[in-house]
Amino acid sequence: MKHPLPQLQAMLPKNTFEGKTVLITGGATGLGFSMGKMLLELGATLCLMSRKQEALEAAKAALLQDVGGSVFIHTADVRNVDEVVEAIEYFEKNAGGIDALINNAAGNFISPTEALSHNAFDTVIDIVLKGSKNCTLELGKRWIAQGKGGKTILNIVTTYATTGSAFVVPSAMAKAGVQAMTRSLAVEWAKYGIRSVAIAPGPFPTEGAWERLFPGGLDKKLGVVNEIPLQRPGDHRELANLASYLLSDYAAYINGEVVTIDGGEWLLGAGEMNFLLQLSQDDWMALAKYKK
Ligand code: HXC
Ligand code: NAP
Repeated sequence: MKHPLPQLQAMLPKNTFEGKTVLITGGATGLGFSMGKMLLELGATLCLMSRKQEALEAAKAALLQDVGGSVFIHTADVRNVDEVVEAIEYFEKNAGGIDALINNAAGNFISPTEALSHNAFDTVIDIVLKGSKNCTLELGKRWIAQGKGGKTILNIVTTYATTGSAFVVPSAMAKAGVQAMTRSLAVEWAKYGIRSVAIAPGPFPTEGAWERLFPGGLDKKLGVVNEIPLQRPGDHRELANLASYLLSDYAAYINGEVVTIDGGEWLLGAGEMNFLLQLSQDDWMALAKYKK
């Protein structure tokens, strides 16, 4: 049975992020946009950074119309350190200091691994792993030099960062690296007042992910929803509430944690006896006679 899902409100108090600035890579679309929208509702100043000026402008206009508040945009390819530095300097100058970073930008597509060119493989690794490193190292150095503390890094990984996954091997390798960075820096940079946390989402419908992971309506053809115990994909506001909480002072003692939000999807694939889900009620009744 599916649980009805109400239109979710932000669960935190309205002023939770007042006076705080959050930088979101890939924040103009998909989950980055949804997290940004809720953070803006909660009083944050937003800095959105990605490659496409048009997408950034459209996102800013939509956010200001729907929510209002302060939104700054700057293009940068996260693979390019010089562009990352230029964008961060722009945000620091115009938005005030940055308090939190969400490493959300990603590149991904499905393919048999042996069909990938070296450049295709590197492209995903460079965006996800090197891109997250570029933003984290640049901001981290600045935060440490400023010596104020109270900073947070939130990395968006995936459940297959832990399990691995066929047909998305560059993404799985890169996300595993980002997960390792999360846990490593949680320890190393805690002394500077920098927390490091991650979210591992299951399937949350976005144009970017769906057109690359399920081209040609593969999700419907293969019944992807049946791989999720809760029998539905995630709602963006569920993930945005989790991200808001992890970035907030309410989560000030959470450090190094990778929180899964996937309706139980990865466990369905993992549990030794989960294949027994195929049995009907009648099958179970029939089996009862074997009980000792
Ligand atoms: C095989 C592909 C390919 C594909 C591109 N390439 N798409 N190979 N299958 N579908 C190859 C190209 O041929 C080229 O190799 C190399 O990859 C680089 O391609 P470009 O198009 O030049 O790269 P670029 O313009 O930098 O674009 C990066 C991109 C693109 C990753 C390829 O898809 C992109 O911009 N993605 C951003 C958004 C995104 O991916 N969002 C989804 C995140 S979803 P050659 O050898 O020909 O030069 C996600 C979900 C995880 O992460 C978990 C879900 C449950
Ligand atoms: P999306 O809408 O395609 O988001 C990816 C964003 O990254 C885009 O805004 C894109 O903007 C930006 N980006 C890509 N390459 C970049 C680069 N080189 N430099 C700077 N920005 C770049 O997909 P999404 O589904 O919202 O994904 C968001 C995050 O959630 C990703 O980390 C993804 O791995 C993760 N995730 C998603 C799902 C899901 O089911 N949707 C599940 C698990 C994890 P530009 O094109 O303008 O650069």
